[in-house]
Amino acid sequence: MKKVLITKDIPSKGVELLEEAGLEVSVYRGESSLTDEELSVKCKEVDLLMNVGQYRLSKTFLEDNKHLKGIALASVGYDHIDLATATALNIPVSNTPDVLSGATADVAFLLMLAVSRKAFARGREILDGKWKGFGFTQELGQELNGKTLGILGLGRIGIEMAKKAKGAYNMEIIYHNRNRNEEAEQLLGARYVDFDTLLAEGDVISVHTNLSKETLHKFNAEAFKKMKSNAIFINTARGSIHHEADLTAALQNGEIWGAGLDVTDPEPMSAESPLLQMSNVCVLPHIGSATVETRTAMVEMASKNLIAVISGDKMPQILNA
Ligand code: DGY
Repeated sequence: MKKVLITKDIPSKGVELLEEAGLEVSVYRGESSLTDEELSVKCKEVDLLMNVGQYRLSKTFLEDNKHLKGIALASVGYDHIDLATATALNIPVSNTPDVLSGATADVAFLLMLAVSRKAFARGREILDGKWKGFGFTQELGQELNGKTLGILGLGRIGIEMAKKAKGAYNMEIIYHNRNRNEEAEQLLGARYVDFDTLLAEGDVISVHTNLSKETLHKFNAEAFKKMKSNAIFINTARGSIHHEADLTAALQNGEIWGAGLDVTDPEPMSAESPLLQMSNVCVLPHIGSATVETRTAMVEMASKNLIAVISGDKMPQILNA
């Protein structure tokens, strides 16, 4: 009987599918995350791995576990695995595209709206007993109607965000990608621009790209200086696409107006971060895909990819074909 390790508790559907396919499933349910070494030790006893919670699967980890027959990432992002090494070792790797696009775009939209109305900080005034009654000019927000949304990475999630922004606020959509997406341009009336134009024209800039060498710290001091002073920066992709100290400085200096982050660098963000004290900043703990429907769909997809491996089939969502 082939064995699979799942690195965190998951919706039961994922386990059921694997068991129905004849796999012996072990789920790590410990409160704290496994260390690299503990994960490696556990993997020695299994044939397949479902990486839930984005454990970093480095070159060393993969070389130590080259017996693995397949790895399913329960995430769309795959910056946490050394894919080149997995490929060299003939370990097929899959991810979970599409199924989380709507939920993640919901969080980007939620952050855009929350920042525009300083909603988290205003709500905290009540929680902290500091709200002294209705004020007319204090901590005013700004409206989104007819403003320009600049998207870095108009792929699956970016398109969902653009649709929501256009539908709700008739926002003009501009975007920057490595390659133009003409289908999306037609669907959304989106305009392709270079990165500097995206920065200069966006009232809201929302990040929906992968983390890679090219995008690491792409939003740094230089980029923030090129943005509008009323601009809202939203990141639901990966924390290290922005440079957190530079973002903090840009907000403190009024170079941009506000920020909404579902991803931070590091994660978890320190409770001491000055960003958490700013009324124009909303921070969430990486909840982009955190709905019952989406998490269930993600583990179903991950399980089906592992089942494909034991059936001798190609993983449907293979990343390293
Ligand atoms: C992903 O899928 O990459 C998300 O960041 C985790 O839910």
